[in-house]
Amino acid sequence: MTQHQFPPVVATRCLDPIKFTCYFGTFVQTPSLGALQVLTHCAVGVDQDGTIVFVNENCSDYTSYTLKFTGLELHEVRFVDVADSETKFFVPGFIDTHIHAPQFPNNGIFGDSTLLDWLEKYTFPLESSFRDLTRANSIYSQVIERTLSNGTTAAAYYATIHADATNLLADLALMRGQRALIGKVCMNQNSPDHYIETFEESKASQLSVIEHIEKRDPSGNFVRPILTPRFAPSCTEKLMKWLGELRKSHNYHCQTHLSENKREIEVAKELFPGFDSYTDIYYKSGLLGPKTILAHCIHLSEHEKDLLAQTGCGVSHCPTSNSSITSGEARVRWLLNSNIKVSLGTDCSGGFTPSILQVAKHALLVSNHLVMKSENDFEKLSTHDVLYLATVGGAEVLNLNVKLGLFKVGYKFDAQLIQLDCEGSPVDTFEFQNPKWGLLSPEESRGKFLDLIDKWIFNGDDRNVRKVFVNGRCVVDK
Ligand code: GUN
Ligand code: FE
Repeated sequence: MTQHQFPPVVATRCLDPIKFTCYFGTFVQTPSLGALQVLTHCAVGVDQDGTIVFVNENCSDYTSYTLKFTGLELHEVRFVDVADSETKFFVPGFIDTHIHAPQFPNNGIFGDSTLLDWLEKYTFPLESSFRDLTRANSIYSQVIERTLSNGTTAAAYYATIHADATNLLADLALMRGQRALIGKVCMNQNSPDHYIETFEESKASQLSVIEHIEKRDPSGNFVRPILTPRFAPSCTEKLMKWLGELRKSHNYHCQTHLSENKREIEVAKELFPGFDSYTDIYYKSGLLGPKTILAHCIHLSEHEKDLLAQTGCGVSHCPTSNSSITSGEARVRWLLNSNIKVSLGTDCSGGFTPSILQVAKHALLVSNHLVMKSENDFEKLSTHDVLYLATVGGAEVLNLNVKLGLFKVGYKFDAQLIQLDCEGSPVDTFEFQNPKWGLLSPEESRGKFLDLIDKWIFNGDDRNVRKVFVNGRCVVDK
């Protein structure tokens, strides 16, 4: 295969001459499941490496505080004060733990299909076309642009079987400044002739992709390879076992699909009769571990759920996709109660939206459907729960070397600046709904602000994302 001819990658790391940035305003985060913390008049200091070095709530003079803290001169510091609107706030960047970058053109196109016929009819033909690097370049660039613009600061991507196009996706993410796990899809059985590889081809292209990505970003803080056996039905045991060995020997990330659709589960069991369950196929192949991301996990047995807990895997819950291609409703609370890490995935194009905010809302609605069926209120997810899944949950599941998902000392500044009253906002806010910090009692102000957060989650979209930061660097400024 020939190397692609696109421009060389420029390092993402902060080339900014400014040594330090102090952000001032309201910061919203979920330090634990179900808990929403609102830090007001808060100064957050970020060093040149994008690391948060102070979080100072109720800061009356952020300029003096910053200069004293850092010992720097005024001209060496940038101040970003967003306290000019009561509906502006920072939230941690969203983390999309399951997205198929090449399927982007198919967002919204699934007819009345379900998983297996959807793959044959829509997905494999499109993915197969990524042998064309010009096409890959334009679609992958658009995916990164669109997800960043929706506040996604880190993503676990599936690419295609093609090494060159997969390497290009890694280069584009690095250039554009989005953190990304990049998966070359491995599939060597039960796939169409135009979109399949042999074991040897899969092995060789997987190794070349790892080499390319690790060379591009030796720190692994921005882009990293992730081993990606598509799902058991399209991989031989030999291929999965080889990937399992590779995972264990190098502590690589790994991602695949599990228990998405009832017919898929039957096919997996027919193809692998010697195993106890669908999950057991991955377990015995050595694919399960703390850096493994399993998408869907809808129809698991108790025993399979226990295997996930025991091996420390993370789950990517994809409610938009699961509703669109009629796969089912994952029991998120049931997983969380077993201490399984859960996060959110768009699963484009099984899901139709590139926005984790929309997926968060769908996660809440799907949990309500579970309640309506089981009449068991414990399944219900609140707006605060789904915000946790979109940020902290994603950080836990990605399990990177850098700390993400919170505004906390030692964490990276990956953030979105949200504004509800910006021009063209889809959220209607009224003056009487503003929190009026300092003018009302703290409880009244907080109550009003929590209502605004709920309005944002239900009615907001990318128009409310005014700026996006990755590693302390502004990557989107609208
Ligand atoms: N299972 C195997 N491949 C896929 C895919 O591309 N999308 C989804 N949602 N499930 C899969
Ligand atoms: Fe998927």
